[in-house]
Amino acid sequence: MRLFEMSTGNRRSPAIVAIIVGVVVAFVGGGWLFAYSGAFDIAADTPHSQPVYWLMQKVREHSIVARATDPVPDDLADEKRIASGAGQYAEMCASCHLAPGMKRTEINRGLYPRAPELRRGSALTPAEEFWVIKHGIKMTGMPAWGATHDDAILWDVVAFLRKFPELTAEQYQTLVKTAPKTHDMQQMDMSNSHETRHESHQ
Ligand code: HEC
Repeated sequence: MRLFEMSTGNRRSPAIVAIIVGVVVAFVGGGWLFAYSGAFDIAADTPHSQPVYWLMQKVREHSIVARATDPVPDDLADEKRIASGAGQYAEMCASCHLAPGMKRTEINRGLYPRAPELRRGSALTPAEEFWVIKHGIKMTGMPAWGATHDDAILWDVVAFLRKFPELTAEQYQTLVKTAPKTHDMQQMDMSNSHETRHESHQ
């Protein structure tokens, strides 16, 4: 009896191994063929099929939730933060995400996936917004602003985005005009302070 069981086991396991190897080879080979044949249309003016779009949305959603772990500053309602964020937004984001009173730009019209109009609000939490702004989103036009901006400035932008849906076009324009400093000056300040810190170490 035991001998019989062993022999059937032995006869079956190579078959199972062969099936697993076959499936793996089919997947890898299929993937290779798919990639090298040029079958996938990478054009930004051809929308994804529904299942691919759904899958990408899910991957994006869960990836952001899993990574957005930075503590949220408690002064996001601070007016200076909001005004500074408005200035940054007008310079860096409005070209793609638009603003009240602004016509659609050429870049906004050509993006796929589309850049949402952030004045309509977003389903993201402040921590998730911060993460997206800092790290960007692969295979979309959303850049990683953390490469060139420190966290404090990016939190100013988040502070502004929380307020954005409540603002009229006039209020938005006034805020942008009263932004504490222009973006370039803030960037210069940052590089000066880095130099100063650097020098004081020497
Ligand atoms: C070159 C165009 C471009 C610029 C400039 C840009 N974005 Fe985006 N952004 C996008 C695109 C495209 C998406 C959508 C990505 C997607 O669907 O996964 C996006 C997504 C986002 C999202 C996620 C929105 C949501 O509800 O899911 C936030 C928040 C965001 N951007 C903020 C900003 C901020 C703040 C700036 C300026 C500092 C900025 N973006 C500049 C193209 C841009």
